[in-house]
Amino acid sequence: MKNKKELRLRWPFRILIVLIGVVIVVSAYYPIRSIYKLCMHNYSFDTSLKVYKDGNYSYLMNREYNKLTDLYYGSKDYKKENMDYYMKLNFIEKDNYLANVNKLLEKGYSVDDINIIYSKLSDKFIDRLTKEYIFDIIKYIEIDYFKEENYERYLKYFNGNYQKTVLYVNIGLDKEWYQDPNTVNEFSTTILVNKFNKLKDGFEVPEIVSISKDFSDGETYLTKEAADAFENMARDAKKEGYDIWANSAYRDYDRQQRLWDYYLKQYGKAYNEKYVARPGFSEHETGLAVDIKSLHNSIFKNSKEYKWVLNNGYKYGFIHRYPSTKVDITGISTESWHFRYVGVDIATYIYKNNLCYEEYYAMFLDK
Ligand code: DAL
Ligand code: ZN
Repeated sequence: MKNKKELRLRWPFRILIVLIGVVIVVSAYYPIRSIYKLCMHNYSFDTSLKVYKDGNYSYLMNREYNKLTDLYYGSKDYKKENMDYYMKLNFIEKDNYLANVNKLLEKGYSVDDINIIYSKLSDKFIDRLTKEYIFDIIKYIEIDYFKEENYERYLKYFNGNYQKTVLYVNIGLDKEWYQDPNTVNEFSTTILVNKFNKLKDGFEVPEIVSISKDFSDGETYLTKEAADAFENMARDAKKEGYDIWANSAYRDYDRQQRLWDYYLKQYGKAYNEKYVARPGFSEHETGLAVDIKSLHNSIFKNSKEYKWVLNNGYKYGFIHRYPSTKVDITGISTESWHFRYVGVDIATYIYKNNLCYEEYYAMFLDK
């Protein structure tokens, strides 16, 4: 009798246990299955657990595995509402990355903006952007030759065109001529010397040779490479009936000084600033510049040789250095006679794109 009673009592108890068990198994099935599937989708166990808790299971399972998600979920700064944005980030391993991304999103920058910002700007500048929405910053930083350190100068100089503003400020056009110029320390064929770029004291040119007596007085010098190019050009010109002559080429600092003094006395300062570079600021001191004359017309600008060199010089590596259309940039009034050796590739690009050397240099060489 007693046993029967015990049995009666045990059955409901057992059913209850089974029911509880079923409830536990049923309710655990879905999370376990989800976490398992996330793990199978390559996410770490920790991430999978957090993803499940956040309710992002379907969101992630419907997308390709993204290894960054592991990193984002592992970060204390992860915010569920920004998940869509995180998925489009070009992740960068940096301190406070996600925290800054959150702040930048809050300020109104898009994910594309953030990717560009992180690819171009320093931590210091990014920190500034997390506190301030600069509506046109992307317009600036998308320009290849944008320089962060010049940003305040761009703002002051802004002329309505972002590209030109960046270009001109990089050239130095927001500054007075000769005002704290950059120092040029080393020779190279692509050297830039102008009112904003001064040769260092005692600047030395590697090797200069006299230009053939066929095309000069024999005491006119250029670097070897430039002299060879000049002679090739003059020889080819001659074959076509054009006679060009190297009138003045390499001048050292003292000679440039004497020239400056002479013209100052003759014509005054305003003339000098337009046509003669101050010593240290002349590319004649590099052995890469040559003043050309025609043997048929004393006014070079009116000679057939001028037109020929203008349109063929680039094939030998020479550019017309001070064109009339670029006076505002070069700061030197049109000099029909002054050509500069930069090498064939650069000269060709400059000729075909109608640039002056300052523009080319700022666009491609000034790193
Ligand atoms: N005439 C050019 C500007 C020079 O003196 O270098
Ligand atoms: Zn010259």
